[in-house]
Amino acid sequence: MAKEIEELSNLNKDSIKNLRMQREEYLSQDKEEKEELIKNLAKQVIPNQIILIIKNIREVAPNLKIFTLESRNQSSLAPFRGGSYLTITVKIENGYYTRNFFLYSTSKDANKGVYEIGVFDNPEDKMSHYIFDEMKIGDIFISSHPINHFGYNMVRDENNVLLIADNNGILPAISMAKAIDDGIDTYDLTIFYLAHKYDEILLERELNDLTTNEHINVNYILSAEQKPGYLNGFIDTNYLRSFMSRPSSIFIAAEEKQLKYFNNVLEELKLPRKYIRYMPVLPEYQSAQDLKFVMTVVINNEKFTADCYSNKTIVTSLEEAGIYIPSSCHDGTCGLCKTELLKGEVKIIKDHRTKAQKEYNIIHPCITYPMSDITIIIR
Ligand code: FES
Repeated sequence: MAKEIEELSNLNKDSIKNLRMQREEYLSQDKEEKEELIKNLAKQVIPNQIILIIKNIREVAPNLKIFTLESRNQSSLAPFRGGSYLTITVKIENGYYTRNFFLYSTSKDANKGVYEIGVFDNPEDKMSHYIFDEMKIGDIFISSHPINHFGYNMVRDENNVLLIADNNGILPAISMAKAIDDGIDTYDLTIFYLAHKYDEILLERELNDLTTNEHINVNYILSAEQKPGYLNGFIDTNYLRSFMSRPSSIFIAAEEKQLKYFNNVLEELKLPRKYIRYMPVLPEYQSAQDLKFVMTVVINNEKFTADCYSNKTIVTSLEEAGIYIPSSCHDGTCGLCKTELLKGEVKIIKDHRTKAQKEYNIIHPCITYPMSDITIIIR
């Protein structure tokens, strides 16, 4: 454990001056006091963070593992709504990487001190690939408390919810269904699970088990295969309308390409915006050429230089260079990564900045790509 503490104490050391002292204090304490110090240390490194230990790992599909995480002292964890995610930071080689992972469990499990997250293996994303392939029982995550931009809200949403999900959104969909099954939420949920072929469907048994609850229904829709018991084709306006005999909210948890298609379907339904919820998705961007640039980074008046690339967000290049930057949403909405751009050209995908941020050249590096050499200040 002392090794992890040492690593934590080096994280962002320039801006957190008393960490080293705390580490020394830690090493001289007895066990119970050490537990307390670890918690305080994690909070200071990244505010509102917790330390979670991997208790179990289940491979539920060749590209999907469910990680069971426990609080250090097995005390209860913060409750959350179905559809929430954790922002998790891990150290890989010389850098700290941060990504979001959807919760697969419910508040009932949190009460017993357990969170479950699903991790897809994405060879193009170093962090998820590392967690999927390398992390083992007993390893530690630095994690946020659960964050929710997508789940059911009894004040805002109708009590008939139609949830359209593909593989990208099936974890939040299941966690919402589980919250109903656990008696935490009370509304009717119909999930439309979109897949090209039957073999691509994930967690089908778990989903089917949930349909024994009268408030949960699941319809599988295969776009490129015909199979008895499974719908074939695409969801269109009339099909959706047939499930809307009473006021309904529509939730969409799917990849960006699907979002574009469903925007048109929803327009035809003429539903007011407040009845539509979208799962946050990472914007997709590919520049015509993959160009390499030099990034100069100023932190606490010290300068560092590193490579950055036209096809990688600035956050990714910072992580790969071992330069820590706080981040959470990775879709430009939370503002945690905000940084001043002193020099250079950039491409911003889905610009969520305020007028003042634009005026003062503040960027969100999680959705920003360099188009030339750049100089940025991380405060
Ligand atoms: S991580 Fe949220 S805006 Fe960049």
